[in-house]
Amino acid sequence: MNRLFYFSGSGKSKRFAEFLGKELKIEPEDLTKTKNFSANTSVIVFPVYCQNIPDPVVTFIEKLNTDKIAFAATYGRKSYGNVIEEAAELSGSEFIGGICVPCGHSFLSEPDDFEFSSVVKFVERIKNPHKAFCEPSHKDFYADLIPAKRTRIGVKITRNDFCNNCGICETNCSMGAIKNGYTNKNCIRCLRCVTECPQKALEFKTLWFMKVYLTAKRKNEVKLYL
Ligand SMILES: Cc1cc2nc3c(=O)[nH]c(=O)nc-3n(C[C@H](O)[C@H](O)[C@H](O)COP(=O)(O)O)c2cc1C
Ligand code: SF4
Ligand code: SF4
Repeated sequence: MNRLFYFSGSGKSKRFAEFLGKELKIEPEDLTKTKNFSANTSVIVFPVYCQNIPDPVVTFIEKLNTDKIAFAATYGRKSYGNVIEEAAELSGSEFIGGICVPCGHSFLSEPDDFEFSSVVKFVERIKNPHKAFCEPSHKDFYADLIPAKRTRIGVKITRNDFCNNCGICETNCSMGAIKNGYTNKNCIRCLRCVTECPQKALEFKTLWFMKVYLTAKRKNEVKLYL
């Protein structure tokens, strides 16, 4: 059985997974909701967080039992670090390909802006799977320096008066980091709660130093590992 999984905060990786799903004729599955961890070939789509793999994705890769695996990382035109290499190592399954796709940054409320044409070779590889070369890349020395805490300081989530305590944010949060619209220290600022709140009761704000960092020196590279 071939399966396509995704993790998504602000919805960009989900939309990219939906695009891949159409090309591959596989229904994308939210990896935070699946109870079945077996597959022949798996594709995992996830966003880059602080040049790292988001924690829920790490946990999922460790549980997944698959013969072959491919990864697609969406990143916000800053840096993708070495997430594909780390994901391939973590999995231990036969690595058949990877891609880092530039798109809008979650914290800048940008459009997705995928370059679909660049994905053709990746899609072809999944259709005709064989072992890929995972070229080593590097991440910045500070990438592993309390990344979630740094993000929590730079990005604030606030609840407004529209909240009706429906609990949907709590159900959707894979980190157990929110209750009735109030986040706690487990929050990784994925923004899924903000995206999914039916009342639009959650808002996020980036602090000035984060804005400076986010808008400086962007890059638009599609990186293929085949
Ligand atoms: C907590 C967090 C950290 C991020 N770190 C990076 C990063 O290191 N480099 C980058 O280019 N984009 C970064 N981004 C942007 C996302 O990788 C990018 O917007 C991604 O497509 C979001 O996917 P999603 O909407 O599926 O969550 C970060 C976004 C978040 C929420
Ligand atoms: S999903 Fe929105 S309305 Fe519901 S509890 Fe959370 S913040 Fe409040
Ligand atoms: S509380 Fe934090 S970790 Fe949970 S969904 Fe919201 S932003 Fe993501």
